[in-house]
Amino acid sequence: MDYENLIEKAKEVRERAYVKYSNFKVGAALLCKSGRIYTGCNIENASYGATICAERVAYTKAISEGEKEFEAIAIVSSGDGIAYPCGICRQFMSEFGMDLKLIFTDGHKIETYRLHELLPHAFTEFEAEVEGGS
Ligand code: THU
Repeated sequence: MDYENLIEKAKEVRERAYVKYSNFKVGAALLCKSGRIYTGCNIENASYGATICAERVAYTKAISEGEKEFEAIAIVSSGDGIAYPCGICRQFMSEFGMDLKLIFTDGHKIETYRLHELLPHAFTEFEAEVEGGS
């Protein structure tokens, strides 16, 4: 897989981030096993809590177009360092596979991880089952 291409796409979409409140732009480019790429940027809201992160925008675009399996996601921010995904995004992505490769760059170095490394012991439906429950 061409990481550079995925990183470039994440940088492009980062420029469309709607960041009226934090001024912190994030861009994500999600490579599906189909070979297609879906991008997402963060979209903030006056209520703050209704803000959606770049990663989840990319996933919702892909899933609503029929994608089910994901290979890798590149994530870039407008900050100085690497922007690791928030807890909600880690949990959201875990629903669709723990082998997802995550590619980060601060513009100098590149770091890659698998989702299971960033979210050990992820919550799953199975674990939610209560003994004796119906
Ligand atoms: N943000 C993302 O887009 N992805 C993350 O994983 C972390 C945070 C956004 C949300 C908000 O618009 C801004 O970064 C500051 O938190």
